[in-house]
Amino acid sequence: MRGTWGTRDSESTVMALFARIREDINSVLERDPAARSRVEVFFCYPGLWAVWIHRVSHWLWRVKLRLPARLLSQVGRFFTGVDIHPGALIGRRLFIDHATGVVIGETAIVGSDVTMYQGVTLGGTGKGHGKRHPTVCDGVFIGNNANVLGNVTIGENSRVGAGSVVLADVPPNSTVVGVPAHIVYRNGERVLITDPHDVKDPLSDALIALSGRVEELEKQLGRAVKTAEPFSTEEAERTAYHEELERLRQYVSMGEGI
Ligand SMILES: CC(C)(COP(=O)(O)OP(=O)(O)OC[C@H]1O[C@@H](n2cnc3c(N)ncnc32)[C@H](O)[C@@H]1OP(=O)(O)O)[C@@H](O)C(=O)NCCC(=O)NCCS
Repeated sequence: MRGTWGTRDSESTVMALFARIREDINSVLERDPAARSRVEVFFCYPGLWAVWIHRVSHWLWRVKLRLPARLLSQVGRFFTGVDIHPGALIGRRLFIDHATGVVIGETAIVGSDVTMYQGVTLGGTGKGHGKRHPTVCDGVFIGNNANVLGNVTIGENSRVGAGSVVLADVPPNSTVVGVPAHIVYRNGERVLITDPHDVKDPLSDALIALSGRVEELEKQLGRAVKTAEPFSTEEAERTAYHEELERLRQYVSMGEGI
């Protein structure tokens, strides 16, 4: 009886494993227009191999075989160029395109249907302890060489531009770009920065000071324009001049054609 149950269990485990592999391959076919067949995806996508190796190393990590887990993840890194710590929690259908240079830290959490390109780092800032790596929610897209640092959360279906450095939480359905990253789209609407306080940048202080000075100058200019608006002195001089001209005209006409 025991043996029968054991066989059924292992059969279903193997079936589940193949189902997962098929699911991963299909997700690549859906997301990468360059992928032509399942066989091609199986043999030519090291990002997928990295995920599969991680699944085994993560299992070793969870059963407390920490050193074998680390060793296996290093073997994976050698062959794929992707360094995923065995402690990282990775959801389903993660697609790492081009693979090379991706680093995913120990306490990172990656949801399902996440896509990332080469050179992406989900790393720590070097300052934190405990949960010190990012949480990337379902459906997130991370462009090549983007760095997401610290215990920050990238909300569902958000996009991180290539080369961006994300240091703060990103709300769901947003696009962030730049160093440090700021939101350019949210729920399909373009987001423009109009307040320099919203620019979280080492140059922010200079921008804030500059905009304060411009505001001050505008105010001063506004006052000057206001004072000058009635042109009271000029208006009075003009009136006096016209009256004098009128008076003189009488003399001119009297002078008969001078
Ligand atoms: C972030 C990204 C997804 C946004 O695409 P999008 O929704 O079409 O956005 P837009 O092109 O309209 O860009 C919006 C603004 O952000 C800027 N921007 C876009 N991507 C940027 C980036 N990576 N870094 C800095 N600024 C960026 C644009 O210049 C534009 O600014 P502007 O309106 O002031 O001119 C895309 O630009 C990106 O970076 N994709 C990654 C692709 C990748 O990794 N490819 C690797 C292939 S190997």
